[in-house]
Amino acid sequence: MMERVLDYIAQNKLRHVDELKTLLEIPSISTNPENKPDVERCATWVADHLRQIGMQNVTLFPTAGHPVVYADWLHAPGKPTVLFYGHYDVQPVDPLNLWTSAPFEPEIRGENLYARGSADDKGQVFIHLKSVEAFLRIQGSLPVNLKMIIEGEEEIGSEHLQSFVEGQKKLLEADLVLISDTSMFARGVPSVCYGLRGLAYMQVELVGPDKDLHSGSFGGSVHNPIQALSELISQLHDRDGRITIPGFYDDVRKLTPRERAAYKKLPWNDRNYARGLGVASLYGEKGFTTLERLWARPTLECNGIWGGFTGEGAKTVLPSKASAKISMRLVPDQKSDRIAGLFTKHFRKITPRTVKVSVNYLHGGEAAITPIESPGVQAAARALEKGFGKKPLFQREGGSIPIVVQFKELLGLDTVLLGFGLPDENAHAPDEFINLENFYGGIRTVAHFYNELPRFISDGRKG
Ligand code: BES
Ligand code: MN
Ligand code: MN
Repeated sequence: MMERVLDYIAQNKLRHVDELKTLLEIPSISTNPENKPDVERCATWVADHLRQIGMQNVTLFPTAGHPVVYADWLHAPGKPTVLFYGHYDVQPVDPLNLWTSAPFEPEIRGENLYARGSADDKGQVFIHLKSVEAFLRIQGSLPVNLKMIIEGEEEIGSEHLQSFVEGQKKLLEADLVLISDTSMFARGVPSVCYGLRGLAYMQVELVGPDKDLHSGSFGGSVHNPIQALSELISQLHDRDGRITIPGFYDDVRKLTPRERAAYKKLPWNDRNYARGLGVASLYGEKGFTTLERLWARPTLECNGIWGGFTGEGAKTVLPSKASAKISMRLVPDQKSDRIAGLFTKHFRKITPRTVKVSVNYLHGGEAAITPIESPGVQAAARALEKGFGKKPLFQREGGSIPIVVQFKELLGLDTVLLGFGLPDENAHAPDEFINLENFYGGIRTVAHFYNELPRFISDGRKG
């Protein structure tokens, strides 16, 4: 039977890509109020498609923000139940002029399909829909019970998903969570991800004089808020690249010698990595390798900074205000709310009396680790080996999916991160793409995952 499922997947490749293109044409940018109708339309498209492939109880759950799409198929009594999670919303597309083809006019160039959301996360969600379709078309059943939730607010912090999960604990009961929203280690190097970083996102504003001033008449007599802000930001790291906020590292879980040794064995080259990014030299916390810095150490980044005159030409002005967006990536066992508090206290404390400061906490989420020994991770490794013909690596990622920790805390479930993206897929940037070999390999792998999982979880719940 599995052979016929795989044949079906192989024979329908081109149609699958065509259908994915239709999904990618919908500009479901969750953060833009003007795209709200598109986000709704996208949710409806996903729901319709779920019905079309044979999923049942397809429901659009409205939230205070964008809708959550739910569907299930629960006719495998005695077999495990998988809760799939993905997101149909995408990031904004600016700067638009850097796209080779328009972000919502999907285009295949070479081995890749280019469009906003192609990798993050519509393309990866679609991998799952096509795998399910293959089983339901060919054998009329799945090897496991399946519940799917596909949300529309992941890119803006999953604000309303948590209360949805809290309110639907019964509906979402399962044995494990499955997510495809991460990347493989490299092209041709499949991997299972077992860790994500958390996040605390801050915005700060400094106000100096209560209005913009002529920089000739007043310059030299007051502290320029842009200068003050730059001085503050530059104090947040020391010379060793360590973050200077008191207490920031208190709860950081140390890398085990075993994990450090495992990272050192991964096929990694700092020089190639630097070259690929177009930097002459790398930067980071002293005493740690690049992979350790990316996966297991917390960071602080200034995401944006603005103030004063930024138009063309010259304007001699001493601005009244300056602002910055600053985010911190967190690792186990840091708590985002505590870190936000430490940041706020410290930033206020080091602000000079020459300016007024306000610090805002925009959103936060916790880091997550899934034990490598867990049955889901082991089944994912087996599935990747079958789907890509190569033993996968185990890796962590530096990005964040805040709901993962909620799944653990609210539903008691470990999450399997089975990613089919690539590190250079341009997620959140111009020319985002999904590699088509990964798309096809992903569909095969997910089919193998469902097929193998019952062997790894013998005491599955009743469907
Ligand atoms: N798919 C990413 C998460 C991700 C990024 C995993 C890179 C692994 C590597 C997700 O869509 C995302 O962008 N998450 C945000 C979270 C934030 C908006 C709360 C992130 O990591 O910045
Ligand atoms: Mn994503
Ligand atoms: Mn994203």
